[in-house]
Amino acid sequence: MHILITRPLPPAVIAPLQALGTVDMHTGDALSPDALRARAVGADAIITMLTDQVDAALLDAAPTVKVVANVAVGYNNIDMAAVRARGVVATNTPDVLTESVADFTWALMLAITRRLSEGERVVRRGAWAGWAFDYMLGTELRGAQLGLVGFGRIAQAVAARASVFGVRVVYAARRDMGVASAARVPLDELLATSDLVSLHVPLTPETHHLIDARALARMKPSAYLVNTARGPVVDEAALADALARRVIAGAALDVYEEEPVVHPGLLALENVLLVPHLGSGTTGTRTAMAQLAVDNVAAVLSGRSPLTPIL
Ligand code: GLV
Ligand code: GLV
Repeated sequence: MHILITRPLPPAVIAPLQALGTVDMHTGDALSPDALRARAVGADAIITMLTDQVDAALLDAAPTVKVVANVAVGYNNIDMAAVRARGVVATNTPDVLTESVADFTWALMLAITRRLSEGERVVRRGAWAGWAFDYMLGTELRGAQLGLVGFGRIAQAVAARASVFGVRVVYAARRDMGVASAARVPLDELLATSDLVSLHVPLTPETHHLIDARALARMKPSAYLVNTARGPVVDEAALADALARRVIAGAALDVYEEEPVVHPGLLALENVLLVPHLGSGTTGTRTAMAQLAVDNVAAVLSGRSPLTPIL
């Protein structure tokens, strides 16, 4: 068996794969699509990252591949039609990152409402003139309404933390999840009534630019947008424009339309917090994600069912 891993993963986690065959682990930056195709030739399994495009061209270059194990819960980087048409198994890493991303979402909500990154920039550039009664005042979370767009595992874990902060939750989702502590409302109502709007939908053709100029215009001028999902769910140019014109109060972004490029209009603004796709980024969670991907590969290559197949 030949197993390709497209980025370095912890040696202890991948060790069991060595018993199944040869492991070829790429150690540099992200492989280009051409380099990935060339490297995948002859592979039985590929452990991929969200930065790798798994498409028909890759699968046709490597027809021996039986399983693609994505080290992410999101799988917008995988063309599932192409995977299914070739009888390949694809897996993702749900559950193991839920709590970590939920914590991180609260970190962003606290940071943007209390102006942490803006304040830090002031301190670092030596521009802080000292304490003042009305200096850089933020917004209280207590009593605020949080609108969760999407209500899967991560959004529900975000909701579970809300009562501690005195925040009430509404959500927009295709199905009523039957949760007593949060009401399901139409997206337009969520946008118009929430003080914080946090995105937790997968990236699909339906959610691409879900938050566009029209959606932003529906939000309260005092509201904040938080995106830990996928960049293209937000029209970044429209967001930069809305923030500059104070159509909304602020935004905190972990993900971008063209990572690692960030829309230049955002970089110049004070009312946006920008961090580099760190949502699941704790050592413990990333290790658990790698472990689950390895377990999925081991299961499929041993003739067993994958643990977390993408259906
Ligand atoms: C991270 O972005 C993931 O989808 O796991
Ligand atoms: C992720 O696991 C989600 O369903 O939000």
